[in-house]
Amino acid sequence: MVTKEDVLTLKKEKNAIILAHYYTLPEVQEVADFVGDSLGLSQKAAQTDADIILFAGVHFMAETAKILNPGKKVLIPDMSAGCSLADGCDAEELAAFMKDYPDHKILAYINCTAAVKTMSDIIVTSGNALKIVNSLPEDEKIVFVPDRNLGDYINQQTGRQMVLWDGDCCVHARWSASMVNKLKQQYPQAELIAHPECEREVLELADFVGSTAAMLKHVAASENKEFVVITENGILHEMKKQNPDKIFYSADNQEACICRSMKMNNLENIYQALKDETPELLLDEETIEKAKRPILRMLELS
Ligand code: 13P
Ligand code: SF4
Repeated sequence: MVTKEDVLTLKKEKNAIILAHYYTLPEVQEVADFVGDSLGLSQKAAQTDADIILFAGVHFMAETAKILNPGKKVLIPDMSAGCSLADGCDAEELAAFMKDYPDHKILAYINCTAAVKTMSDIIVTSGNALKIVNSLPEDEKIVFVPDRNLGDYINQQTGRQMVLWDGDCCVHARWSASMVNKLKQQYPQAELIAHPECEREVLELADFVGSTAAMLKHVAASENKEFVVITENGILHEMKKQNPDKIFYSADNQEACICRSMKMNNLENIYQALKDETPELLLDEETIEKAKRPILRMLELS
């Protein structure tokens, strides 16, 4: 069995950095140099001087790290760790869709493929989407891809009328108003915090809406002691660690609380990937060049 120490020793030998998303398993978060939301992870990926970046997350996140570090080796423990948002927005289908909106800019949620990033004007994450959209001219015509729920939330909050691609996160979209109301009845004293990838009917019941990092910040600052957490359960590890005196509740529903792709990362495959320096995430030069522009624009505006 691979231990935490095995991974840490090998990581040092290889001059590697491990970046992990909040949704990964606790033991994975414990070997990471940085655990964060999509924005924090891309900022970290842009700054590192390690030779190898091992990305414990999903495929589009490793792609983003490669785009920002073309000269570095980017490893992903399991190549098949996909995301329903990225997988549900094919670049060719988007090109066909855009024929109806020739004067629109493409604003893309970072949860999209590198190919879609090459077609985009700006990338956003759930942590900076409102700020970035508010910084654009009011009459800018925008197509937002690929998350209709995050897009709808941005439209509601900013008064924009972005055209929305019809994609969703197969985890967050499973939460329903009835599930949330049940939790509300069960824990009436708890504050309800939700990720903007959830449906509007769920967000309307929430006391706070934000990215994973924003939720963590909110919980730490809140005077409340109990929280119903409406997102993937992996975040509870960091929440409990940062707030040992607070209590967190979630739904008893695996489909709504577990992202299978995030859970594909484990100590065994992280160790193996570092040892063999494979599977390596590779992208062609043209894709990297074109996809980098909208990401850098996001980082400048963040
Ligand atoms: P953030 O970590 O940016 O909130 O994104 C959530 C998510 O679903 C990542 O895939
Ligand atoms: Fe994609 Fe949803 Fe998993 Fe995040 S939680 S990686 S958006 S499927």
